[in-house]
Amino acid sequence: MKSSTFKIVTIAGATGLLGFHIADAFLNDGSYKIKILRQKPESENKNASLLASKGAETIYVDYNDKDDLVKALKGTDVVICAIGGHEFIPPQRALFVAAKEVVEFLQELKKSGMEYTIIIDGLFQEYLWVLGFDHKNKKANLFADGNTKVVTTALSDVGKYTVESLKLPAARNGIIRVAGCVLTLNELVQKFEEVTVSYDLTVRERYKNNTDPVPALLDDWAAYLVTTLDFKDFHNDKFTFTPRPITDAIKKILDTSDKKTGYV
Ligand SMILES: NC(=O)c1ccc[n+]([C@@H]2O[C@H](COP(=O)([O-])OP(=O)(O)OC[C@H]3O[C@@H](n4cnc5c(N)ncnc54)[C@H](OP(=O)(O)O)[C@@H]3O)[C@@H](O)[C@H]2O)c1
Repeated sequence: MKSSTFKIVTIAGATGLLGFHIADAFLNDGSYKIKILRQKPESENKNASLLASKGAETIYVDYNDKDDLVKALKGTDVVICAIGGHEFIPPQRALFVAAKEVVEFLQELKKSGMEYTIIIDGLFQEYLWVLGFDHKNKKANLFADGNTKVVTTALSDVGKYTVESLKLPAARNGIIRVAGCVLTLNELVQKFEEVTVSYDLTVRERYKNNTDPVPALLDDWAAYLVTTLDFKDFHNDKFTFTPRPITDAIKKILDTSDKKTGYV
């Protein structure tokens, strides 16, 4: 793969679920100076320490102070935002608000004249349980027809796609679509069963069509997700690595579930 013209990459939210995998992938790539932006006040964080031990520089900022942010970003070639937080979560109504914000954000981004890359990667495989995999009760409560296809990608692969996208001409001011794997819901159930042969996973098609009433907000969100997770025209062939097998993520989900009752 060609080398990149970018040298300094600043990652906001690098201590989080997604941001850590992106920062880690950049540090493993070794071609860039990595800065991580953290919100003030200073605080201990295991992921921050790990990234610092691998060479990342930590900068604390007040996100409400524009001058502070501008100072922190000085000299940066690439800014990656992986900021999360609970305000993203409130379902249903917030989903539409968030979707609207995203549209406005994209318009602002394009108007700003800054170079950008949008990476569309489907559902994080570490969030597969959201699609209705109830490990605790050993059921798969699917929210759509079992033949519905969904695109999912492991977080560590999202990190690698982000790093390699800096070296892809098609990524400049463009949209990159990638998939760790594309499987139907029925195939996903089979993957769970491959990993958990001793569990009795069953399929209950709660929503045979997407106009059926939906009882809970999380279910509603899952039902919405399922209808948006089938997309095409992937750029996978432009990347050098093979995505992780989905069973890795399933093992991790089940392991977490066994340790924390009621997680999935
Ligand atoms: N496709 C999927 O399946 C999927 C699943 C989950 C999330 N996501 C998306 O991935 C992105 C990142 O989510 P995440 O779950 O990785 O985030 P997260 O772990 O909840 O948070 C990431 C980091 O954001 C920083 N942060 C939190 N609240 C903040 C605030 N109010 N102001 C400034 N910084 C704040 C914190 O870092 P510091 O304290 O170190 O600054 C935190 O570690 C979001 O866009 C989310 O929607 C996608």
